[in-house]
Amino acid sequence: MNFTLTEEHLAVQEAAREFAQKELLPGVIERDEKQQFPKEQIKQMGELGFMGMMVDPKYGGGGMDTKSYVLAMEEISKIDASASVCMSVNNSLVCWGIEQYGTEAQKEKYLGHLATGEIIGAFCLSEPEAGSDATSQKTTAIDKGDHYLLNGTKNWITNGDSSSVYIVIAQTDPEKGYKGINALLVDRESEGFVVGKKENKMGIRASDTHSLMFTDVKVPKDNRIGEDGFGFKFAMSVLNGGRIGIAAQALGIASGAFELALQYAQERKAFGEELVQHQGIQFKLADMATQIEAARLLCLQAADLKDQSLPYSKQSAMAKLFASQVAMDVTTEAVQVHGGYGYVKEYHVERLMRDAKITQIYEGTSEIQRIVISRELIQ
Ligand code: CAA
Repeated sequence: MNFTLTEEHLAVQEAAREFAQKELLPGVIERDEKQQFPKEQIKQMGELGFMGMMVDPKYGGGGMDTKSYVLAMEEISKIDASASVCMSVNNSLVCWGIEQYGTEAQKEKYLGHLATGEIIGAFCLSEPEAGSDATSQKTTAIDKGDHYLLNGTKNWITNGDSSSVYIVIAQTDPEKGYKGINALLVDRESEGFVVGKKENKMGIRASDTHSLMFTDVKVPKDNRIGEDGFGFKFAMSVLNGGRIGIAAQALGIASGAFELALQYAQERKAFGEELVQHQGIQFKLADMATQIEAARLLCLQAADLKDQSLPYSKQSAMAKLFASQVAMDVTTEAVQVHGGYGYVKEYHVERLMRDAKITQIYEGTSEIQRIVISRELIQ
């Protein structure tokens, strides 16, 4: 591994940090409490180029590399993980998926609007009975000649009610197993499409998570991404990149909690001196900082491999597996450093601790990451 961060990388990092402090921090506690999607802030993120960072400028994107994306995701996630999951899904699963595998017409129609945050998108793979076991899709897309007839239910869909376009993974030919699955672009206004109930979640409460119902939705064949039967491979491919985004989110949640703990430990006095003078606290801070540094290096390594068009699925799984555990460990310790104050909402760390948990679950649980990693080791 040999990469250095350029001045451009550091400028992106600074811009994201400034935006998060100025625009996301005020109101983050209230949005979490009220489960209020940060609509206005996401619009601003689009205007600043954070919603389509890696998209080619000819489609209105930022034309940046994946390392810039990791740095920006970390900064946004330090303050507001609900905003950053929206950003991650839009960048990694939706924009990148369409840019990499879509037709020119699909790119013309969707990419420009998605990359500027004018609209946002959702990725619909999980179902009531198919989460980790992603090949067992019950949603069907029956081939009707010039269109597919889509029927089924999707669960836990990020950006579920705020999206204008949905990438839906569905089974066309069950006899072909995963080779019979397709990925379809479904417009929000399609007849037969209904946004279902909003999930009342433990963390990332301001993100917009819904079930979605499709009843006899007609999807034109032109809206299929890739060749017939490419849907499962499409999903696996975009998730390889998505896991870098979620790893960076976990990293940001951890480093946000660490910064708060460090600051608190320097201000709060106990037994006649600042907390930070006590070795028990110093050791905690040292462990937290070391874990965060290691997680950041794994994220940047996976990003760098992707930027060089080298295989990166193992490294993105490792980054997500490790960073999400670091997020859990560091946020828990940050609450501990804060003592009683850590358990109340004003100090932010309790929210970060709740937000951390989902990073071990979505875009492949930690157990799935171990499957991905071990298969690569064994093959
Ligand atoms: N990258 C590229 N290709 C992959 C792949 C990967 N990571 N994993 C599998 N494939 C390919 C395989 O090579 C195979 O192709 P070939 O036959 O040509 O070799 C094909 O896909 C089928 O693979 P498997 O036989 O290994 O399939 P499996 O049924 O054993 O499942 C799995 C593999 C890794 C467990 C997969 O099902 C998986 O990743 N599950 C987790 C799904 C997931 O991440 N869900 C998250 C929901 S999305 C979300 O959370 C978004 C959000 O809103 C935040």
